Amino acid sequence: MTSPVPHPGLADSAFLAAVRGEPVPHTPVWFMRQAGRSLPEYRKLREGIAMLDACMRPDTVVEITLQPVRRYGVDAAIFFSDIVLPLKAVGVDLDIVPGVGPVVARPVRTLEDVAAIPDLTPEHVDFVTESVRTLTGELGATPLIGFAGAPFTVASYLVEGGPSKEQALTKSLMFSQPEVWAALMDKIAQISAAYLQVQVAAGASAVQLFDSWAGSLTPTDYREHVMPWSQRVLASVTDVPRIHFGVGTSNLLGLMGDAGADVVGVDWRTPLSDGILRAGGRAVQGNLDPTLVFAPTELMTARADEIIAAGRAAPGHVFNLGHGVLPATDPDQLARLTDHVHAYPLD
Ligand code: CP3
Repeated sequence: MTSPVPHPGLADSAFLAAVRGEPVPHTPVWFMRQAGRSLPEYRKLREGIAMLDACMRPDTVVEITLQPVRRYGVDAAIFFSDIVLPLKAVGVDLDIVPGVGPVVARPVRTLEDVAAIPDLTPEHVDFVTESVRTLTGELGATPLIGFAGAPFTVASYLVEGGPSKEQALTKSLMFSQPEVWAALMDKIAQISAAYLQVQVAAGASAVQLFDSWAGSLTPTDYREHVMPWSQRVLASVTDVPRIHFGVGTSNLLGLMGDAGADVVGVDWRTPLSDGILRAGGRAVQGNLDPTLVFAPTELMTARADEIIAAGRAAPGHVFNLGHGVLPATDPDQLARLTDHVHAYPLD
């Protein structure tokens, strides 16, 4: 089966123009975690279906991915999946526990543990290829963003066995057992790269590499123990723009750009103007505090205006929250935010 023919309007979409640093018809906007928990239509569809099962069923993946595009008219869709899905697909015994996050049955801490994880081939994720193909057909001129977890963040779940605040076990493995660490990072880099390539081959227009927990690292440790593998993943996808995002990564933004990103994601703690300076002449994405949706609408939109104005100093700016949509978010407030960003006057 050949890849679908891209919609003629896709290349000129506001999102792809901003990412390339070209003039835009309006500031493009999408929201990390837009597909998911805050939407009533999502909760209804997910009733009785476990998270990872939902990710493996093309009918649910397609519907959930489209829901926020329909509701908000955002400028990009994000593929409905999870950063641990490719591990599940190759056979790692893990689950996503509601309200907790990914939980791994047997944490990975030795060379034998790493060697027991198979490499990912496209056959492991047939359902992803099918879902992306259907989606790119349905989305028309709206770009689909594929994604994967960056090696450090995925390693943190595998080593800790679940969510962790400080990533102490992960970092102690990184500091004390460099061969095990390198083998683990090699493995995850292969899996994430192959997973991104499947999404791009099936028609995704851009990719985002989530290194959500990289903010726990010093620049020295990031450069030495993490960056080479993120670089490998980003270098494996050359046909579409690459966004690189982490939380609390103010001190790492330059390195995250240098790892091979076209767009640097900025969380809400860093003023966007600082993020732009650190992103090394790259386009940026961000960065409204996700809790501002709980503020009065006028305050939320005033803060959005400041971000859009600051974004004009970058070669390109994609408006987003500084991290994912919180589950308690009122969808009507995100609809108002989307409309507001779209109505912001061009220079
Ligand atoms: O809309 C989208 O952004 C697409 C879907 C998406 C999900 N996870 C679905 C999901 C994306 C892009 C992710 C990425 C992801 N998953 C990251 C990186 C992004 C980030 O937020 O930093 C991380 C760290 C994970 C791991 C993970 N999976 C966490 C921390 C959780 C939340 C646990 C909880 O319930 O508080 C999940 C579960 C998850 N992933 C849900 C969804 C919709 C909730 C599942 C449910 O409701 O049962």
